[in-house]
Amino acid sequence: MRLEGKTALVTGSSQGIGEAVALRLADEGADVAVHYRSHPEGAQAVVERIAKLGRRTAAIQADLSRVTEVRRLVADAVTRLGPLDILVNNAGVERRADFWDVSETDYDFVMDVNLKGLFFTTQAFVRHLLAAKRPGRIINMSSVHEELPFPHFTSYAMSKGGVRMMTRNLAIELAPFGITVNSIAPGAIATPINRALLDDSEKLRALLGNIPLKRLGAPSDIAGVAAFLASSDADYITGTTLVADGGLLWNYQEQ
Ligand code: BGC
Repeated sequence: MRLEGKTALVTGSSQGIGEAVALRLADEGADVAVHYRSHPEGAQAVVERIAKLGRRTAAIQADLSRVTEVRRLVADAVTRLGPLDILVNNAGVERRADFWDVSETDYDFVMDVNLKGLFFTTQAFVRHLLAAKRPGRIINMSSVHEELPFPHFTSYAMSKGGVRMMTRNLAIELAPFGITVNSIAPGAIATPINRALLDDSEKLRALLGNIPLKRLGAPSDIAGVAAFLASSDADYITGTTLVADGGLLWNYQEQ
């Protein structure tokens, strides 16, 4: 078990990719704090499965768009599970709209969760590591859209571009403290975030046509990458993005 004795906090882990990551880290030996915003039943179910694996765990609610709540989240995780080693900034939201119709509320929601929330969760985690004089791992859930345009989701793509630069900046700034910072860029994964797309067979067919491996990703495809980045196998990796997208990002062929 690669993560025995480690403690992780995974944001947005009551469903989707975050749920799979929390379970996988626990499966590899880590104790895991499960953060959720509005889905307590999901968080409870994840916590029960983690407890069955024999790991310590806690479900903690917080609205990541509020800095005071983010600080409480990290403090609560430490109080309940002890010093943390791994932060997975997984929580993320997207809102579809034509650019000219985007509302301030939707723009703020996407930026507040995907960028501001991620920024201050990371800050609270880093303050904890520095105070405890511990090394650590930060893993950000980015997207292929940190690179690839995503029309009608401009705020989302902007937020992921921001995550990419935050990953690069912090990798340098935090390296002296033994803290590594990396991102994962999932492609199209079957999760609640893209339910509208999954329910539209025509759009789904078009999307699959763009994926060389010809299938959507499963949350477990991403969880394995997170477990690798959290493990000592990734000791020498920092400041980079691992793309797990079935080939979507660089797919180009002449017809
Ligand atoms: C988005 C999904 C989208 C996928 C591939 C993800 O980052 O959250 O909505 O289907 O990228 O475009």
